[in-house]
Amino acid sequence: MTEIVEKIQKLKKKRNAVILAHNYQLADVQDVADFSGDSLELAKKAANLQEDVVVFCGVHFMAETAAMLSPEKTVLLPDAHAGCPMADMASGEDVLALKKQHPDAVVVCYVNSTADVKAVSDVCCTSSNAVDIIRRIPLEREIIFVPDKYLGGHVSRMTERDIILFDGYCPTHARQLEAHVTAAREAWPGAPVIVHPESRKEVCLSADGALSTGQMCTWAKQSDAQTIVVGTEIGLLHRLRKENPGKTFVPLLEQAVCENMKKITLEKILWSLEDLSPRITVPEEVAKKANRAVLAMLGDGPIG
Ligand code: 13P
Ligand code: SF4
Repeated sequence: MTEIVEKIQKLKKKRNAVILAHNYQLADVQDVADFSGDSLELAKKAANLQEDVVVFCGVHFMAETAAMLSPEKTVLLPDAHAGCPMADMASGEDVLALKKQHPDAVVVCYVNSTADVKAVSDVCCTSSNAVDIIRRIPLEREIIFVPDKYLGGHVSRMTERDIILFDGYCPTHARQLEAHVTAAREAWPGAPVIVHPESRKEVCLSADGALSTGQMCTWAKQSDAQTIVVGTEIGLLHRLRKENPGKTFVPLLEQAVCENMKKITLEKILWSLEDLSPRITVPEEVAKKANRAVLAMLGDGPIG
C-alpha cells in the first residue's frame, strides 16, 4: 500500500467515512474506493449508508443526489469543479418552458441533471433503468426527456414511444463516431462492440449493444468473447480488465475521456477528508422537490 493510500485509509476510519467511486474514475481512485459502480448503483448505495461522511468520487450531480438522499450526512466532492457539461446544458427554466408547451406530459430527467431540473421533473432515470422507467408511464401520456437527446432517442427506439427530447448531449460520448465502429470491426474481426446509450444514434445502431457501465460489466462477464470493443469513457476499462483477467478489452476511442471525472485524484481525496471539504449541500426546498423524482425512480409503481 502506498503512503497516500495508507493515510486515506487511516483518516477514513477516524472520520467514519465511506468512499464511493463512479466507474469512470482514475484507476487508483477506483482501487481506493469501498464501492465502485454505475449511477444507479451509486444512488442506491448513497440512499442506505451507515457512515457519517461520504467521499463521492464522481461529478457534481452525483454528490448532489447523495446529499439530497442523505441530508444528515456530510457529502464531499474532492474537486468542487468536477461538473457534468451535459447536466449543465438544461436549467429548471428550460424544463418549465417545455412543460408549458406540453402541460400534460410526464417529465423524465436523466440523473445527469442539476437538482433544479430534478425539482421540476416527475421521475428520474439512469441509463440502467431508463427503458423500465418509460415502460411504467401509461401509454396515453406524453413524455418529455431531459437533458440527453441520445439516451432519450435510444429509449424511444427501445420502447417504441414518441418522446419529446431536449437538445443536450455528453461531449465525451459524442466524440465516438460510426466510423470508429467500422474501424474497430476491421481491426478486431468478430469482436463484439458495446457502447453506452449516451452515444450518437448511428453509433448505438451499428454496435452490438447499448448498455450502461454497470450493464457492460455484467455483459462482459457473461460473454464468451475473448476480445470486446468498449465504446464509453475509458475509465471503465480498468474495472473490466480487473474483473476479467483472461479477456481483452479495447477502447472504441482512446480519446473518450471525461476530463471532469478525471479531476478527482488521491491527493484531493486525502485533502477532502482532512478538511471535510468541499461539502455539497442542496437547499432544503429544492431537495424536497428533487427527492420526489429520485424516489419515484427507486420505487416500482406506475408513473404519471
Ligand atoms: P452510468 O455509469 O450510469 O452508465 O453513467 C454514465 C455516465 O456518463 C455518468 O456520468
Ligand atoms: Fe457528464 Fe459525459 Fe462526463 Fe458522464 S461522461 S459526467 S455524462 S460529461
